[in-house]
Amino acid sequence: MRRLTDTEKHWVEDTLKKIEKKMVPVTERNRDKIPYTTKNGRFDDKSIDDPCWWTNGFWGGEMWQLYALTGKEMFRQEAIGVEEKLDKNLMSHQGLDHDNGFKWLPTSVIRYKQEKNEESFNRAMLAAGNMAGRFNMAGNFIRAWNNWDDVDRRGFAIIDCMMNLPLLYWASEETTDPRFKMMAIAHADTAAKEFVREDGSVNHIVVFDPFTGKSTGTLGGQGYGEGSSWTRGQSWGIYGFALSYGYTGDKKYLETSKKIADYVLAAMPESFLVPIDYRQPKDVTLEDSTAAAITASGLIELAAGLEKENLVGADRYLDAAFKLLKTLDEKRCSWGLDTDNLLENCAVDYHGDGHNMSIIYGDYYFIEALMKLAGKALQIF
Ligand code: GLY
Repeated sequence: MRRLTDTEKHWVEDTLKKIEKKMVPVTERNRDKIPYTTKNGRFDDKSIDDPCWWTNGFWGGEMWQLYALTGKEMFRQEAIGVEEKLDKNLMSHQGLDHDNGFKWLPTSVIRYKQEKNEESFNRAMLAAGNMAGRFNMAGNFIRAWNNWDDVDRRGFAIIDCMMNLPLLYWASEETTDPRFKMMAIAHADTAAKEFVREDGSVNHIVVFDPFTGKSTGTLGGQGYGEGSSWTRGQSWGIYGFALSYGYTGDKKYLETSKKIADYVLAAMPESFLVPIDYRQPKDVTLEDSTAAAITASGLIELAAGLEKENLVGADRYLDAAFKLLKTLDEKRCSWGLDTDNLLENCAVDYHGDGHNMSIIYGDYYFIEALMKLAGKALQIF
């Protein structure tokens, strides 16, 4: 990554200091929890009411990044606590799905990378094996979700899954068995062909015939509608393809990430406050700060890949990442010590009622992006 200017460097350092100042008391008063969102400013606890929820790895990842930032043992202990609580999920077939990467990359894999403990390795390999078992050989895609009774969903695949592929890349690196990586590459190739439209916008859901593997249609999923441009899906695409480039060295994935990023930068509102869907009606003001944070972290990954390949244009993506993060800092962060969350105005989807809330992965990717800019990030994805 290019050298940051002094102003950029100071802003990154100051923002990370603000994060540390807030997250020490927040973590102290939320020990032993797995937060997802806040009620009246205080974290809930998914370890009690939904131990298999797809976001349950992010608090662990946040704790690891904060441990890397501060060296404070409390953060490491909480991260390990999350990993142990996920064992309940590992023993639940119904609770395992394409999102295994979101749960075990920020917990077991990152702990194993640092501490080489056998338990973490075992957990992560079980999660990777289960994810590999979801691969559809006719269509070369990893099945999304379970919903076993709904036969129409047997051929569902989603753009979000690009972010889970690093679990398979990691499993091949660790075992030297290429099968996991082969499946990840096959899924990434299918996604590049079937999810990414000519203009760089992406589908959330592509439906395949589970027997022939032919794509039979697309669905709007969590976005505004079919043919729309769900902003978090766009961010998963930018980041996910940049990651597949990182794990394979194949420049075509970098090109795909760039194509999605170019669309996003052209669609970005002047305010850099990210809507829920880049194609939502003009008079709708709904926002999603999670998409802003994930886009920023994905753009940093893309910029790093372009620089590694000595390709031009990295600065444009890095500048956009800074703008997104600064906008979040100045306009969409709850910096007071009396609230548990960082980001505000996050959204689950367009049509549901999960709007204007805090969501844990928004906070995670905001911190991760800043840590990358500071050169201190743990590579979790
Ligand atoms: N992976 C589901 C979501 O982004 O909401």
